[in-house]
Amino acid sequence: MTTVLGVCCSARHPGNSEVLLREALKGAGEGGADVKFLRLTDLRFEPCRGCLACVYKGKCAIKNDGLQTLLEKILSADGLIVAAPTYLLGPAGVVKLVADRALNLAPHLETLAGRTRAGATISVAGNALWNPLGVELLNLFVLAFGYEVIDYLEAYAPGPGEVLLNPENVRGARELGRRVALALQGRAPRRSPAPDQCPHCYSRLFRFAEGGRATCAVCLTTGKVEHRGDGRPAFIPDPPGPHGHFWSPAYRRKHLADWIIPTRDRYLARRAEIKELLARHREGWRG
Ligand SMILES: Cc1cc2nc3c(=O)[nH]c(=O)nc-3n(C[C@H](O)[C@H](O)[C@H](O)COP(=O)(O)O)c2cc1C
Repeated sequence: MTTVLGVCCSARHPGNSEVLLREALKGAGEGGADVKFLRLTDLRFEPCRGCLACVYKGKCAIKNDGLQTLLEKILSADGLIVAAPTYLLGPAGVVKLVADRALNLAPHLETLAGRTRAGATISVAGNALWNPLGVELLNLFVLAFGYEVIDYLEAYAPGPGEVLLNPENVRGARELGRRVALALQGRAPRRSPAPDQCPHCYSRLFRFAEGGRATCAVCLTTGKVEHRGDGRPAFIPDPPGPHGHFWSPAYRRKHLADWIIPTRDRYLARRAEIKELLARHREGWRG
């Protein structure tokens, strides 16, 4: 039996994120998955120290926070559904705080590569006009922890529990969870992306460049922007390279081997020079 983990990123309980996440988990259960629930705000997380012990020593240097609990659950769960409230135009800070630690997956990339892992996200905000980063940054969390994003839901309601006033929210969450469970069994396709979304991660955030080119801000897929007959923009991705997009299992392993791991030797080769430059710059620093 497959396992679907629900991760709630709201400190309000039960808040709107939790209500919809629990509905999604019900749906996943109906789809045949074993479900688990975890509230990130019940755990304490420290910021990433940038030491790369996860890459070079296979273990995070921070020993006493919630990451190990989360990581164990993530490593064993086939499916992941993350729900978060929007604060300041995007998911609450704990989402980024924890996503920054996802390099801790590095020692497990080979093991995870052969597994089917499907994820989905629920972004809850007070107002649809003020949530431009919600789904995108939640999807980044799911991708960074090694899952393919197969669906997402946006819901809008300010007060705790207020999402329940719209039955579409409950129906949508239940269906989202069911689809994650079915996708894990190969019985449901991914949600079809709209023309203005990145086809790999559903992002609507792009960096524009010359010649009508653009790069997806979440999975770094490159492509071009075209304007269709109806005036709506469409993102036409370039054909994928041999390793897929930035978060594909093969690309990740290559990125680790070709870029992250060699940064140490490149740094060590010039360490004396860097030390001298630093010493000069530090003169006169205060505080
Ligand atoms: C500090 C704070 C910042 C917020 N910022 C936004 C925002 O930028 N955009 C928005 O649409 N809603 C914003 N909201 C509203 C919440 O996203 C909304 O109340 C949501 O339902 C909370 O979900 P929860 O009940 O799961 O915590 C904010 C709420 C708080 C408390």
